[in-house]
Amino acid sequence: MLCIGHRGAMGYEPENTLRSIRKAIELGADWVEIDVYLVNDQLLVIHDDTLDRTTNGTGDLEDYSFEEIRVLDAGKGERIPTLQEVLDLTKRQVGLNIELKSVGAANAVVTLLAKLSKGHREKVLISSFMMDALKELVKLDSTLKIGVLASGNEQRSLKYAAELNAISIHFSREQVSRMCVDDAHLAGLLVYVYTVNEYTDLQRMRDLGVDGVYSNFPDRVRHYQ
Ligand code: G3P
Ligand code: MG
Repeated sequence: MLCIGHRGAMGYEPENTLRSIRKAIELGADWVEIDVYLVNDQLLVIHDDTLDRTTNGTGDLEDYSFEEIRVLDAGKGERIPTLQEVLDLTKRQVGLNIELKSVGAANAVVTLLAKLSKGHREKVLISSFMMDALKELVKLDSTLKIGVLASGNEQRSLKYAAELNAISIHFSREQVSRMCVDDAHLAGLLVYVYTVNEYTDLQRMRDLGVDGVYSNFPDRVRHYQ
């Protein structure tokens, strides 16, 4: 099973920071997942649209300028990274799964990824719960690797994946079932499951035949294999 570090290695380091991503690489992750918002024309790596949970700031992300956001502490003195900084770090080391959290981010992401080498672009997977964002991405650049984050309706998600020519479908640990995995594989999709931290769940994922798991503890996936 592919090991995807969730928000870096958030079981050990502050989520979605460069420090967390470095830790995931050190622990042997094949890929790293991060969450991305477009805020005042900047692609920022953060999970929530508010600052309170993960930084020493408060309130809505969109109410702050880039400069104001960049002086905040995202944990252990880390700043909220830009997507460019993460791409610079992961290049040649590990695959990068960009989870889009802003519907309007497609254009900025395509512009940024267009500057990468072919080899680097091949190590980037873009996923989202927001089909509109993925549709826009594919419209702008049909060569990007796309993953669909499944909604509660599995059949509808499979249909979206086919429409988008996605390579993967991503289920939550609670949602995934033998039928989900078999249907997705029949449709030619890779199956990734989030978030798998416990050994009993890792065992279950292996029995189900999933292709990869997101984990807050990438070393646990490694030790399990
Ligand atoms: O991409 C997998 C997982 O990260 C989706 O949920 O809320 O952790 O971004 P969330
Ligand atoms: Mg995510």
